[in-house]
Amino acid sequence: MSEVNYFDKTFEMYIPNWEIQNLVMRLASEINRDYGRVEEEVVLISILDGSFIFMADLIRQLEFDHHVQFVKLTSYKDMSSTGVVDFVLDVQTDLRGKHIIIVEDIVDTGLTIESFLEQLQLREPASIRICTLLSKPDEHNDIVPLDYVGVDIPPEFVIGYGLDLNGLGRQLRDIYKLKV
Ligand code: IMP
Repeated sequence: MSEVNYFDKTFEMYIPNWEIQNLVMRLASEINRDYGRVEEEVVLISILDGSFIFMADLIRQLEFDHHVQFVKLTSYKDMSSTGVVDFVLDVQTDLRGKHIIIVEDIVDTGLTIESFLEQLQLREPASIRICTLLSKPDEHNDIVPLDYVGVDIPPEFVIGYGLDLNGLGRQLRDIYKLKV
């Protein structure tokens, strides 16, 4: 499909699935390189809902044992950030002394990840790094350090591969951008 429609809006093909899989493999090899030999436990924390597909693909490329946790934070309504981050589901395990890798689908304003980082630091982990498939650098101006970035994109609204518009479009295998 070269175009899809949701809520009177047209989205055009942007990043095909084969390219997404290449990005995932590159990110996984960077993480394997950095964490393959650490002695402490490693916990990957996926931020729901958008990152569940990326997380599932990413961890199957990892070559070391690790724990998987999910949190739910929301700051989005329609196509713009509300500016308020809600914690709907929190981490369910003790993180002290463990290496944390936060797994995000997309960093837009950086507000979600910034709030989450503040929360995580209180739990005294050994380290925290951030892995995101997509980043919109023009929107967040590097307010948070992103350690593993699949690809930088312009400030466009995208759906597919877990990303949604008002709950729809997550199942699309490719990533689509809003057509203007
Ligand atoms: P931030 O707090 O502005 O960085 O927004 C982070 C969250 O907003 C992401 O985890 C997504 O759930 C959502 N989001 C940001 N940009 C997009 C987009 O282009 N499409 C769909 N969801 C987005």
